[in-house]
Amino acid sequence: MAIRNIRQEGDEILNKVSREVEVIDDKVKELIDDMVETMHKYNGVGLAAVQVGILKRIIVIDIYDEKTPIVKLINPKIIKQKGEREIEEGCLSFPNKFAKVKRPVEVVVEGLNENGEKVKIKAVELLAQALCHEIDHLNGITFVDIMEPNTLQYVEPQN
Ligand code: NI
Repeated sequence: MAIRNIRQEGDEILNKVSREVEVIDDKVKELIDDMVETMHKYNGVGLAAVQVGILKRIIVIDIYDEKTPIVKLINPKIIKQKGEREIEEGCLSFPNKFAKVKRPVEVVVEGLNENGEKVKIKAVELLAQALCHEIDHLNGITFVDIMEPNTLQYVEPQN
């Protein structure tokens, strides 16, 4: 496992559309492990493969809730969504920046796990938000592309 470099704001790869994964080989599995490690290293809630420079439809999420396992999804798709709320959002590719976005309250997402099995995740609140945020990344959309006007904030890093 290895920590990968996270692509930052201004890198045009962040606005590219990722491709479907057709074969889940060792390279894909290694990428998923590295993504989880990288997300944890930077205390992120989620990471999309494009953020480490790979245009494949793969996301990982950890909402750091003991009851909710780490999400690792290949070719994820939102198949249902319900409600709407306005919430603060950030992204590992936009360090120390936050803005308000509108997200569904509930989503149902389908995709494949690392073993190529079909999985369906029903999520609310933070997990639903993270799924939408990461799936947006796969479509080349970042939170600053959809933020509510005049809500972008820069917070000084605390060291
Ligand atoms: Ni992000």
